[in-house]
Amino acid sequence: MQNVSDTRGRPLRDLRISVTDRCNFRCTYCMPKEAFGGDFAFMPRSELLHYGEIGSIVKAAVPLGVRKLRLTGGEPLLRKDLDWLIKGLKAIDGIEDIALTTNGSLLPQKAQELAEAGLDRVTVSLDALDDETFRAMNDVKFPVARVLEGIDAAIAAGLTPIKVNTVVKRGQNDDQVVALARHFRDKPVILRFIEYMDVGTQNGWRLEDVVPSGELFQRIAAELPLEPVAPNYEGEVARRFRFADGVGEIGFISSVTKPFCSTCHRARLSAEGKLYTCLFATEGHDLKSLIRDEDADVARLSEHLATLWVARDDRYSEIRSDDTRDLPKVEMSYIGG
Ligand code: GTP
Ligand code: 5AD
Ligand code: SF4
Ligand code: SF4
Repeated sequence: MQNVSDTRGRPLRDLRISVTDRCNFRCTYCMPKEAFGGDFAFMPRSELLHYGEIGSIVKAAVPLGVRKLRLTGGEPLLRKDLDWLIKGLKAIDGIEDIALTTNGSLLPQKAQELAEAGLDRVTVSLDALDDETFRAMNDVKFPVARVLEGIDAAIAAGLTPIKVNTVVKRGQNDDQVVALARHFRDKPVILRFIEYMDVGTQNGWRLEDVVPSGELFQRIAAELPLEPVAPNYEGEVARRFRFADGVGEIGFISSVTKPFCSTCHRARLSAEGKLYTCLFATEGHDLKSLIRDEDADVARLSEHLATLWVARDDRYSEIRSDDTRDLPKVEMSYIGG
């Protein structure tokens, strides 16, 4: 088996693995309380891929070109013994980088064991420095101080460079961006502002609530001048800038105003073992039944993955319109960030 390309010539490089659809936050743009209440039916644990099954899928993906893994959720640190999974994945030949996207709430107690298991780096979601704004956005009144402690624990554990992801929603936290930029720029942290996206169908997304990156750039650059920096690698989603005084870097992820589908090399695996070739896909491809019911070995999984990737044609963000809004898309908490 060798590297594969899809119908648009895009290779497969990253596999993003969701390990649970549960989360202890209810961010308004992701898992609004009204839709994810006490009676919400999360996946039964028996339906989740076991760590061995995830390992088999990763082994099958490496010969096709996958080099980077990202563990996501929901909140991945809610899954028991995640450090075992990391140890197993780290031992797979060909995997060069393992990252984790987390809300940071459990990092104070877990950062060190994650680093010891072989995790390379973490990305922490943080939408505000102001405690009241932060509590309102996570909607479970989680204090910002605890997430900042989590970031410090990750720095101390050497999970650097740490990235912080801030989803900006107009009228909710757009007044936080300059303070966030100032706060992180002299730390080993790269802050990225993300345009609020129409992922899933539950967040009540409206174009008016998106703050275009261009506007954020102006607001920040007016106080802290910025200079562009070349991408770290082809297909990097964030556009990078450094502060003109030489201290610190930030990025903008502009999936709404400047889609990056043409270089998208990411596949996503849901916690129940469905493969999605786009964040906005309406359907996933069931890999779990291939493993559990048909006893497929790694070679067969690899062939199957190759078939799925070569048929891939997704480019949702490039063709987003009023007509795409109400498609039966999966939720971000189900498929990962
Ligand atoms: P590294 O370069 O590996 O550090 O990660 P990254 O810069 O690709 O960023 P990360 O994985 O943290 O993704 C950040 C955010 O960008 C996600 O939470 C999404 O909001 C958005 N994003 C990432 N990948 C995609 C994608 O394929 N499509 C779209 N539309 N948005 C994406
Ligand atoms: N738009 C943009 N980013 C989102 N995330 C979750 N929901 C959205 C959305 N609607 C991002 C969060 C987090 C990651 C898990 O996904 O910032 O970093
Ligand atoms: Fe949880 Fe992350 Fe979604 Fe917030 S964005 S509800 S922390 S999965
Ligand atoms: Fe990739 Fe789909 Fe995102 Fe486009 S919208 S960048 S194809 S995941």
